Amino acid sequence: MIKVAIIIGSTRPGRNGEAVAHWVCDLAAKRADAEFELVDIKDFDLPLLDEVLPAAMGQYDGQHTRTWAAKIDSFDAYIFVTPEYNHSTSGVLKNAIDFLYAEWNNKVAGFVSYGVSGGTRAVEHLRLIMGELQVADVRAQVTLSLLTDFENYSVFKPAAQQEDALTVMFDQVIAWGEALRPLRH
Ligand SMILES: Cc1cc2nc3c(=O)[nH]c(=O)nc-3n(C[C@H](O)[C@H](O)[C@H](O)COP(=O)(O)O)c2cc1C
Repeated sequence: MIKVAIIIGSTRPGRNGEAVAHWVCDLAAKRADAEFELVDIKDFDLPLLDEVLPAAMGQYDGQHTRTWAAKIDSFDAYIFVTPEYNHSTSGVLKNAIDFLYAEWNNKVAGFVSYGVSGGTRAVEHLRLIMGELQVADVRAQVTLSLLTDFENYSVFKPAAQQEDALTVMFDQVIAWGEALRPLRH
């Protein structure tokens, strides 16, 4: 079985991302075809990128980088739970991604986004970033609207069809995660 990280892309106090990620985890826990783990960037105390060499060179100086690298390396696939900030993903998620390179390669990504317009622009930017990191990003995505999937922009109440969208995304992430296994070993 492949291992899938559910990565919370916001570290803001009072973030909506936490409720969204827990919803993803709760539905993931009902599946028997992959293992899932919640990964909270907040727990890794990453500073703004402070490595001397670009991550693609694979020489990490900081203990925080090595700890983050070991965690990300342990997965076959990632589900990024991303807010939309200024028509892109969050700075903290981009920063956390930039710390590493090889650990992401030949893995798979799916996206759950949220924002006024469902966070779609954040995901479009993330797809460009995934290309550079040699991550295969699946087509299906979950787009949660602050207007219709939250009450008062802050209490997460996903519309019924969002569970179906998440199921399709899980199916695609797991299928590609299994299919790319030969490239990773
Ligand atoms: C700095 C900032 C910029 C934002 N820009 C956008 C935006 O461009 N489009 C949008 O739909 N929502 C935008 N929002 C609203 C966020 O998507 C919304 O507040 C969301 O809950 C943020 O995720 P978080 O609560 O997990 O941090 C912005 C919020 C912040 C804090």
